[in-house]
Amino acid sequence: MNVLLIGGGGREHALAWKLAQSPMLDILYAAPGNPGIRQHAELVALDIADHAAVTGFCRTHAVGLVVIGPEAPLVDGLADSLRAAGVAVFGPSAAAAQLEGSKGFTKDLCARAGIPTAAYARVASRAEADAALARFGVPVVVKADGLAAGKGVTVAMTRQEAESAVADLFADAGATAVIEEYLEGEEVSLFVLTDGEALMPFGSAQDHKRVGDGDTGPNTGGMGAYSPAPILTPALEAETIETIVAPTVRAMAATGTPFSGVLYAGLMLTAAGPKLIEYNARFGDPECQVLMMRFAGDLVATLLAVAEQRLGALPPAEFAPAPALTVVIAAAGYPGTPRTGGGIAGIDAAEANGGTVFQAGTRAGPDGLEAAGGRVLAVTASGATIGEAREAAYAAVAGIAYPDGFYRHDIGLRAVAREREAR
Ligand code: AMP
Ligand code: GLY
Repeated sequence: MNVLLIGGGGREHALAWKLAQSPMLDILYAAPGNPGIRQHAELVALDIADHAAVTGFCRTHAVGLVVIGPEAPLVDGLADSLRAAGVAVFGPSAAAAQLEGSKGFTKDLCARAGIPTAAYARVASRAEADAALARFGVPVVVKADGLAAGKGVTVAMTRQEAESAVADLFADAGATAVIEEYLEGEEVSLFVLTDGEALMPFGSAQDHKRVGDGDTGPNTGGMGAYSPAPILTPALEAETIETIVAPTVRAMAATGTPFSGVLYAGLMLTAAGPKLIEYNARFGDPECQVLMMRFAGDLVATLLAVAEQRLGALPPAEFAPAPALTVVIAAAGYPGTPRTGGGIAGIDAAEANGGTVFQAGTRAGPDGLEAAGGRVLAVTASGATIGEAREAAYAAVAGIAYPDGFYRHDIGLRAVAREREAR
């Protein structure tokens, strides 16, 4: 079968790497791809926003499955256009992708279905927001409504911070926001494949969102991750599926907008049990890199079963028990304007040291590989424990020669401390 992969980041390199291992695969195409993805796929110059061009390509190249990596084409309805043209696609419709695209939509669904999440108010003006702030007290969380690439959220510890976040948001005409209760606990991510009806738990992970060591500095798309997340015990995972994920999937089907794809649940493990922080309608980046490292099944077969609504007939997903950990190397300046063009060497050395290097913002320059974006590489390894996976990943990082790059030194440290305590 020929497969077309949409996207060109570290998540998509990990997907390409795993798709390429499937005995079912004939040709893997990727649009736009990147130099890492090119090792596994034929890159095609397709305008992803031109849905007719994408469906036309699928027809002329006998593509049997399209895998959509990022959220933007989902929210833009690419999956709808492909389905309408009779092409099997892994990824939700635009209506279902609202679970990620609109925080207000998700909060209202949680309220209707009795899904545990932070108490909230949807506000459409500065005055409504101020009234909500008065009700909630501090700490409080202020969120822009709509896709904001992880940047539209302020966790305000003081009233003043909350008010200035609200003032910033409503400086734009027509802005809407969600004001919500602050949840205390540890964050964890759970991934679940669903074809709109059947569920297949697909692993857990913990991300490191702040740019600096010790969780300091601004939020990023993610500076590192590990999988599995031991704090999400099998009992807590089962509780999350029963109280959060399954009722969501049922509610989406009941309103005629079934969700098909991967549901990425961002959870807070509170004293009162798991609560939903947010949903994403796609794999996490860099969580996907550690999930793919551990996934032991056939990714083409699995994603095709989701696309063709046959997921219920498949056995549970199998993952290697050995944990995986990834360290993101970013370009100086990230998450602000990154310095692009810096030369990158040493990928072979990193891989000889036992790592797997997934490329994100890279391009082929006149003198070889160079940086083309904020997050540049995700250096990934596995080991018998999170501690060993961590050592292997940092040993591989040491092989990389990218003078413009920087990375966090404490990925997975908290989990390693817990492993030590448990011994
Ligand atoms: P979101 O974009 O909704 O995932 O929010 C980004 C980050 O803000 C989350 O990963 C949490 O660290 C934090 N956050 C969001 N909502 C809450 C909440 N209700 N309580 C505490 N922290 C939150
Ligand atoms: N790593 C966080 C995300 O993909 O949204």
